[in-house]
Amino acid sequence: MDELLTLDDAERLAAEVVEPGAWGYIAGGAGDERTLRWNREAFSRCRLRYRVLVDVSEVSTETTVLGSSVSMPVLVAPMAYQQIVHEEHELATARGAAEAGTLMCLSTVANATPTEVAQAAPDGPRWLQLYVFRDRGVSDAVVEEALAAGFTALVLTADLPVYGIRHRETRAGFEFPEDDVPALAAARARGADTGDHTLTILESGLEWDYVTELRERWGVPVVVKGLVTAEDARIACEHGAGGVVVSNHGGRQLDGAIASLEALPEVVEAVDGRAEVYLDGGIRRGTDVVTALALGARAVLVGRPVLYGLALGGAKGVAQVLDILRDEVENALALLGCRSPDEVTRAHVVTGFPP
Ligand SMILES: Cc1cc2nc3c(=O)[nH]c(=O)nc-3n(C[C@H](O)[C@H](O)[C@H](O)COP(=O)(O)O)c2cc1C
Repeated sequence: MDELLTLDDAERLAAEVVEPGAWGYIAGGAGDERTLRWNREAFSRCRLRYRVLVDVSEVSTETTVLGSSVSMPVLVAPMAYQQIVHEEHELATARGAAEAGTLMCLSTVANATPTEVAQAAPDGPRWLQLYVFRDRGVSDAVVEEALAAGFTALVLTADLPVYGIRHRETRAGFEFPEDDVPALAAARARGADTGDHTLTILESGLEWDYVTELRERWGVPVVVKGLVTAEDARIACEHGAGGVVVSNHGGRQLDGAIASLEALPEVVEAVDGRAEVYLDGGIRRGTDVVTALALGARAVLVGRPVLYGLALGGAKGVAQVLDILRDEVENALALLGCRSPDEVTRAHVVTGFPP
């Protein structure tokens, strides 16, 4: 763990310990992995404009997301099947996130139940990511359990009406570990056939009225995850979304899709303060975080690097990855001339450079 100084170190070190099939699933993207690459490259097209002679003797990285206090504008993205890298799976991720003072978004397709996650990290703020089963009774039961266990928002993933074409995981021989996923077990117990591909038991026919339905039924904020256009951002607001995540699922769904950072400005403009705007995809440095803030994000989510930390050291590894990011965000804020995330503005970034 002494070698772990950056999130790229975490990737390099985790590649040595994660089983090859699981590595193909985690690290890979869809198609030719163009969007996966573009998510990173988009940050190289931006340059930061920093201000000087600002008193930054006290810098705080703290902020809030939908009213929850977090130690930094960095949240843990929902990721399925965490048992493939560590036996303590989502429970360790929850503990690591809580130790780092930030929020974890639990995947529907997790190896732990919402109740178990809440027990593992009672003080950690938490949201539930929702994949909707064709059999709505399964989704309803997960939501009900999560809300009873203190999860405070529902994150509806909208960019997986069907599963992306992911050659890396196929070539690596990744087999979806269907056992030990409580939501899948519940679906099977109610007669769902997971034979073809696990995720074929998810609903492909969702439309926007489902956002309203979720909000009205459960009475908690609904965050729509996986949109990249001003058009969809506007509709999300019209349906009362409390937040949107500008995301292409980490380049794992539609290859050729716009990089999430490139889509951020149009979404921010369309939302126009009606909802909180978050971004994920390719966040690997504190400077990436402040770049996203400058382009209007309230916070970012980080995906793969958290799993790399989990693989390397369980809860400690997760906390270490998040602490690295927090330190880098603090450093970037000070050097930008900002005392808090709120002080980062559009004037702090210039876009459109060649990568
Ligand atoms: C292994 C893995 C599993 C994922 N599982 C889910 C999931 O269950 N639900 C979801 O909404 N997004 C899922 N995602 C997408 C992440 O939430 C996030 O959008 C993406 O990883 C961000 O990009 P990054 O990995 O470059 O930070 C998954 C991503 C990875 C890498």
